[in-house]
Amino acid sequence: MTEGSQDVFTYLDEKEAGYLEELKGYLRIPSVSTDPEYKAEVLRCSEFLLGKLEAAGLAAEAIETDGNPLIYAEWTKAEGKPTVLFYGHYDVQPADPVEEWSSPPFEPTEEGDLLVCRGATDDKGQSFTHLKAVEALLETRGELPVNVKFLVEGEEEIGGHGIENFVIEDAGERLACDAVVVSDTSMFAPGQPALLYGLKGLAYMELKVTGPNRDLHSGTFGGAVANPGNALSQIIARLQDPKTGKILVPGFYDDVRPLESWEREEFAKLPFDEKAYRADLGVSELFGEEGYSTLERAWGRPTCDVNGIYGGYQGEGAKTVIPAWAGAKVSMRLVPDQDPGKIARLFSDYVQEIAPAGVEVEVSDLHGAEPVLIDIQGPIADAAMVAQEQTWGARPVRVREGGSIPIVATFAKVLNVPILLIGHGLPDDRLHAPNEKFNISQFYKGIRTIVRLLDEVGETA
Ligand code: BES
Ligand code: ZN
Repeated sequence: MTEGSQDVFTYLDEKEAGYLEELKGYLRIPSVSTDPEYKAEVLRCSEFLLGKLEAAGLAAEAIETDGNPLIYAEWTKAEGKPTVLFYGHYDVQPADPVEEWSSPPFEPTEEGDLLVCRGATDDKGQSFTHLKAVEALLETRGELPVNVKFLVEGEEEIGGHGIENFVIEDAGERLACDAVVVSDTSMFAPGQPALLYGLKGLAYMELKVTGPNRDLHSGTFGGAVANPGNALSQIIARLQDPKTGKILVPGFYDDVRPLESWEREEFAKLPFDEKAYRADLGVSELFGEEGYSTLERAWGRPTCDVNGIYGGYQGEGAKTVIPAWAGAKVSMRLVPDQDPGKIARLFSDYVQEIAPAGVEVEVSDLHGAEPVLIDIQGPIADAAMVAQEQTWGARPVRVREGGSIPIVATFAKVLNVPILLIGHGLPDDRLHAPNEKFNISQFYKGIRTIVRLLDEVGETA
């Protein structure tokens, strides 16, 4: 154990329950970025965070963007020491479907070791560990072993570009650092930490299929006009080969960087229990691209999925109608070196080409994110591994992830420093779903991991 962190841990023994209560205050603010109705709450949440950073002893400010404000803070009095930039996001996904929550989605509820609330793990709870680790260090010692900067955004969940412009413009001075730390991912398993080296990118599309100028009686007009619901289904059915799992958009795989043999070997060695995975998800069989294992599919191969389908009668009972329109949201998860803009164009062209006669199809590109692979070598990455190992008693595994954190690709391009994706979450945290949770023990240990990390990084040359 790092001798040097013990003073802070003793302080944390007293303080961590209070930190949990503060986290609950943060979670109670429904900062849903995708829905304009929550705009005021998103702003209130940014102010709450700003106040917490100031109270921790940092100089903090809100930075205006075209969208939700960025919160920036720093403490840079450790002369000659490395600088760590913490990234996180204070926005959350919508709570829908609200009726499936076992407690109100924005009322943090303790269930044993679990703290259930939207944003509990993604990303308020996880990124709060950064803030509280820094606060505990400052309270205990009056100084930090390294310099720290915080950049917390409010549009991660909607792929907003405000942060990107800021990072590109201010990377030289304000964001100059020796490492970026992100806690917005999961450990590989309980007790088994992970240091990630890859995130997927994204191309998020919306399809709208329109037919007749009004809803029609399905008996009177059925068989005489193209049904937008049928047409949409026909399009969707041609996105993926049902046997091989291959995506059928022409050119989709052209720029895919194949998994390297060392990656396939490493993934195969991981203690992944496919049966338990199936049981946890409640599916009788897994499905994906032919020729790849489940972990390879999830982490290293591109995908295409319907996120929502709508149109026509959705109420109770039966209503005989041919809907005037039908729509779907479709996302493609991308791997290096696929380009989100190019993939969006290939998708649109293909959909127009296969659109059935008698309907109009409108395809829009809602947002995108670039895939990224990160180089995690060197003394700072080693320091992170040591910090994780000391907390969890197991050496972190190097893995990739199927989710996206859009700004990470920009960090990788413009900052040119190691990016440490150190998640304290667990694979069953239910991100984006009802009953999202964060284990309280993970929250506490996450804070200690970050304390250790800062102490370890402070020791590097
Ligand atoms: N925290 C997630 C990313 C993530 C998901 C990491 C699962 C590890 C496991 C992040 O907040 C997220 O959900 N990002 C969005 C970004 C998108 C909207 C551009 C995502 O991946 O859907
Ligand atoms: Zn997140």
